[in-house]
Amino acid sequence: MSFYTITLAAGKGTRMKSKLPKVLHKVCGKPMLQLVIDSAKKAGSVRIIAIIGEGAEQVQQEISDVEFVIQKEQLGTGHAVLSAKDKFAESEGTVLILCGDTPLLTDELLKNFVDAHKNSTCAATVMTAKMTEPTGYGRVVREDDGTFKKIVEEKDADDETKKINEINAGVYCFDVQKLFGALPQVKNDNAQGEYYLPDVLPILKAAGETIGVFEAPYAEEIVGINNREQLAAANKSMRMRKERELMANGVTIEDPNMTFIDIDVEIGQDTIIKPNTYLEGKTKIGSNCVIGPDVRMVNMIVGDRVEVQYSYCHDAEISNNVTVGPYVHIRPGTKIQEKVKVGNFVEIKNSNIGKGTKLPHLQYIGDSDVGENVNIGCGTVTCNYDGKNKHRTKIEDNAFIGCNTNLVAPVTVGEGAYTAAGSTITKDVPKNNLAIARARQTNIDNWNDKRK
Ligand code: UD1
Ligand code: CA
Repeated sequence: MSFYTITLAAGKGTRMKSKLPKVLHKVCGKPMLQLVIDSAKKAGSVRIIAIIGEGAEQVQQEISDVEFVIQKEQLGTGHAVLSAKDKFAESEGTVLILCGDTPLLTDELLKNFVDAHKNSTCAATVMTAKMTEPTGYGRVVREDDGTFKKIVEEKDADDETKKINEINAGVYCFDVQKLFGALPQVKNDNAQGEYYLPDVLPILKAAGETIGVFEAPYAEEIVGINNREQLAAANKSMRMRKERELMANGVTIEDPNMTFIDIDVEIGQDTIIKPNTYLEGKTKIGSNCVIGPDVRMVNMIVGDRVEVQYSYCHDAEISNNVTVGPYVHIRPGTKIQEKVKVGNFVEIKNSNIGKGTKLPHLQYIGDSDVGENVNIGCGTVTCNYDGKNKHRTKIEDNAFIGCNTNLVAPVTVGEGAYTAAGSTITKDVPKNNLAIARARQTNIDNWNDKRK
């Protein structure tokens, strides 16, 4: 039961008061147009076309899995669909039409909707919903016998029509040839001077076709985003949906209202997410972890039994049985192996940290390769930048870096080697050596008495 999809995404989104095209505003970390496309794809659409116009270049850069058609002038939703006519000259069957600003639609709802249309003899089916607050939406006007009559936009509606609480979701199924046959007959004699897509429905009806009405079971799914307040509300609904899904799969979320998880994030069983935690982008967390409180992770790969608290970690990997925090910054390109301990005001950038190594307090480790079971003393700094270039530091297995060591890269500390506390290491330290690189202490006899 294949079908095509057209998503409408060319509009300015005036009510957003934004320089960013409306459909690129994000809901749970993803542009809303991408969410709509993903749902259509999951529902089984074989071909998806997005009609774009406002900020088209930017939209093309940020949106994937779709073919684009440019609507040069935004003359209304009907005009938008018409601009894809050539793409369907040879096509037969069903086309699903969606708006790029209804990001909460689920693939399940879309699939049920398309199935209902296909199992009917209707030339078109419109999705509707009963809203307690219908203001702003097109209202569904029915005939006395309950069948579809027409849709009236808010701006064209009289007071009686405005009282109707059944609204047009902006989601339709059409027989593709019948749609493009009738669409050129749509006129723009309305309050906004636009070619309204819903006006094609009474045209088909007048030609003797049947128009189906499919009421969505959950009105929450079909909300359209026209302003920032609706954007915030949609984010909240989507977040709650994502968190319900995770909890159903065995993740503990201590306070769902205080947890912010992007749509593509994966979390394993029996992991506990503590409050004020942000899990963003393509972050993937294993099982039996404790994440939070106060953690932000962006595009992180995290193994099993990892504990992270009060920290910011992005574009990096953490293996099993690692503890991180409090107050740690893990930066891009870092790979931390099993059983590593990173704690208390540590920053790690673009470095590999070997199994069992400890970085317990106040370190900066940048562009470094640290071996296994290394102990890095408090206050150690890799001096990786000479003002022009970045250089790597190598610390081999079982080395011991004394407190407050500066490692001036490029430099290697060999296997089992030690550096004395307070050393500034500028030359390689051979295996099992102790490097002392600091001024010898001088004690001045009775100095305080002499001072007086
Ligand atoms: C539209 C429907 C309304 C419905 C509501 C559901 C029309 C005329 N009205 O109203 O009945 O209740 O959606 O959310 O269809 N777009 C284009 N090209 C254009 C104009 C719009 O691509 O020339 C796109 C927009 O980018 C947007 C979508 O179509 O993604 C809907 O347009 P919008 O202006 O938001 O329509 P609504 O007033 O919300
Ligand atoms: Ca809208």
